[in-house]
Amino acid sequence: MPQATVNRMSVHVGDITALDVDVVVNAANEALRPGGGVCGAIHRAAGPALAQACRRLGHCAPGGAVLTPGFGLKARHVIHAVGPVWHGGASGEAELLASCYRTALELAADIEAEDIAFPAISTGVFGFPPAEATDVAVATSRAWLAAHPWPRRVIFCCFDQAMGALYRASLARRTGRYRSG
Ligand code: APR
Repeated sequence: MPQATVNRMSVHVGDITALDVDVVVNAANEALRPGGGVCGAIHRAAGPALAQACRRLGHCAPGGAVLTPGFGLKARHVIHAVGPVWHGGASGEAELLASCYRTALELAADIEAEDIAFPAISTGVFGFPPAEATDVAVATSRAWLAAHPWPRRVIFCCFDQAMGALYRASLARRTGRYRSG
């Protein structure tokens, strides 16, 4: 259940593959291959046509994102965003992560998506510290939404309550208005 929406952003704790939204974002790898984590879950729920569509696209550099249909998902589209691998923070990781979010939001705006759900990109296998990653996600999304009408809503979808608390804290810092539900 999405909780309070502030500045068109909300936090949802649960499985991103269950969401009925225009776009779900996948935390993808450069080769756009089905992996583990949220990537594996999205590919399993979408079915093999998603991997075929990814094979046709071939590759996406870190910081970038590409769009496919959602196939078997409730979501109409998947945006595959390739986050950075964490190497300690001095290798441009934060800027690459921000670029992922911006590129995904730009693609979602191109198709006039009503809503887009992001997982906490790079915070699993790629090792990005969750507090920093959630702050990049919120700051980048807030800046985009302040300047663009699409997408209408951003949902930060996290797998557990601890990540949800980090998003709520970042939203409170960035908007001064968010209260946890
Ligand atoms: N719904 C929402 N969030 C999820 C789900 C899910 N079903 N499954 C996992 N997560 C969360 C994790 O808890 C983590 O916070 O997604 C976040 C991102 O974790 P990863 O999926 O490991 O993504 P990332 O760190 O970006 O690593 C990407 O992992 O699976 C491979 O192919 C993928 O090589 C790529 C790499």
